[in-house]
Amino acid sequence: MDLKVASGDRVVLMDSDGRKIAVVVAPGARRVGGLGVLDPSPLVGAAFGSTATVGNRRFTVLRPSLLDLLETLERRAQIILPKDACHILLGCDISAGKTVVEGGAGSGAMTTALAWAVRPGGRVITCDVRPDSLRQARHNVERAGLAEVCSFREADVTAPGGIPERDIDAVVLDIPEPWRALDGAWEALRPCGHLACYTPTANQAEQSVRALRGRRFIGVRTVEVLEREMAVVEKGIRPSFEMLGHSGYLTFARKVLETL
Ligand SMILES: C[S@@+](CC[C@H](N)C(=O)[O-])C[C@H]1O[C@@H](n2cnc3c(N)ncnc32)[C@H](O)[C@@H]1O
Repeated sequence: MDLKVASGDRVVLMDSDGRKIAVVVAPGARRVGGLGVLDPSPLVGAAFGSTATVGNRRFTVLRPSLLDLLETLERRAQIILPKDACHILLGCDISAGKTVVEGGAGSGAMTTALAWAVRPGGRVITCDVRPDSLRQARHNVERAGLAEVCSFREADVTAPGGIPERDIDAVVLDIPEPWRALDGAWEALRPCGHLACYTPTANQAEQSVRALRGRRFIGVRTVEVLEREMAVVEKGIRPSFEMLGHSGYLTFARKVLETL
């Protein structure tokens, strides 16, 4: 892994308050969110982990981690947050070489996490009914340098034939009515393949669980992930005042050929 920034690299600039700005280090002046118009090419040759002045401000130059990419993503629709995305990666056993179908590309946050995890050798096929969502997802995935892992398809995953793939390792659904996509997901998954539904409301989670229990899926469970950051200050440690109250419920299941 190169220790210095090369032309074309994606870097994350972190300021002294921990705020992050993602930049592609290519020649030419352009608008960079949070920095204004500038030419980032003087960063070429900077050591990752060193500090640099960009647009009159001091930053630490970082090689982007998955968390950096998710935290600096350009979003339109509600995205799956890092705390939930990493749970989905674990719950669906997503790892290098796996093939995943995603229903609801949205802004491409979950697509980015999936694409990051299936490299090398894996594939993510993400579907959305909205061309503008697919454009946004593609933009973010390209920005993360993960485009070669992903395919983007305009499709309704709840429609008959909406998921034509077979022997898929995992299906991840973030759509309003995931229960309507379960027959297609079952057909697409390999035996023992994993399913995850992300639903903002408990009613949606309940409907998903009921539908899964009526089909050949096992290990059906729903979790909510609560993450509480700690403020570590001179006089002590206390929970951050900015805890995110709620994002969504995660429902997991595995395809089987027969149930007991
Ligand atoms: C909340 S967004 C997904 C956000 C995404 N998970 C992320 O992390 O950026 C939901 C997306 O599902 C899409 N959608 C809704 N119903 C769908 C369906 N039946 N098939 C495919 N996509 C669908 C919407 O157009 C929208 O872009």
